[in-house]
Amino acid sequence: MTTIYVLIHMHTPQIIRTNNFGTDAAAFITRALQETGKSCPVVCLPSGMTPLPVYKAMREADCKIDLHYVALDEYIGLEATDERLFSNWLAREILDPLNIPKTQRTIFHSMHDDTEAECTRMKAFLKENPLDIAVIGIGVNGHIGFNEPPSNPTDSIRIVSLCPITRQNNAAYWDGGRVPKQAFTLGLKEILSAKTIILMATGASKADIIRKTFDNPVSETCPASFLQEHPNVILIGDTGALSQLS
Ligand code: F6R
Repeated sequence: MTTIYVLIHMHTPQIIRTNNFGTDAAAFITRALQETGKSCPVVCLPSGMTPLPVYKAMREADCKIDLHYVALDEYIGLEATDERLFSNWLAREILDPLNIPKTQRTIFHSMHDDTEAECTRMKAFLKENPLDIAVIGIGVNGHIGFNEPPSNPTDSIRIVSLCPITRQNNAAYWDGGRVPKQAFTLGLKEILSAKTIILMATGASKADIIRKTFDNPVSETCPASFLQEHPNVILIGDTGALSQLS
């Protein structure tokens, strides 16, 4: 009889539980950027409610950091001046305050008439300049970036249709409306190729999906669960979001 040994390699995320999410996460991200040893690491950053206290703490600490920002995701079909654009959101919250030059921002152009060409351009940029750090949030349906379920690690930069729950949650950013139906996103392929991934999650509404992400088997139905296969994931969360983790 032949015995087959199967080595199941489960990477364990480093988990940081914090009561002072904004300042702790800001300090951690700042240190992680410095630890890349690069003068200008390539980094994607999330929009959304979760990182707001983090960006505030980074502004208030007047962080002296430099980085090359690559868009994680972006709505399609909005004018370049539209406040809803994630590139504008991040400019207001963190990139302008930290004086990150426009030449160090690689973004999706929301109104481009050839959206496939936009994806091709972003793929080429990331092939030449892979992410050092992917800073991400998580949706209640397990999306990271806008990799809505089902998504898997072969999925690259592409155009996606947003799930109703995502559009509903994003509507809260804009007094209840006006969320585009389509978006660009980095794929799980690009996110998982980052050397370090920092996932931020706050609030009890994220507890269930954080448990599914790290305690359930990897599955396309929870795209974030593929983080289990990455060797260097740091999860920074408050007690609400981490309350159901084993
Ligand atoms: C936004 C993004 C999304 C959000 C997620 C959580 O750039 O990539 O995946 O991180 O939808 O959003 P909040 O933080 O508003 O709960």
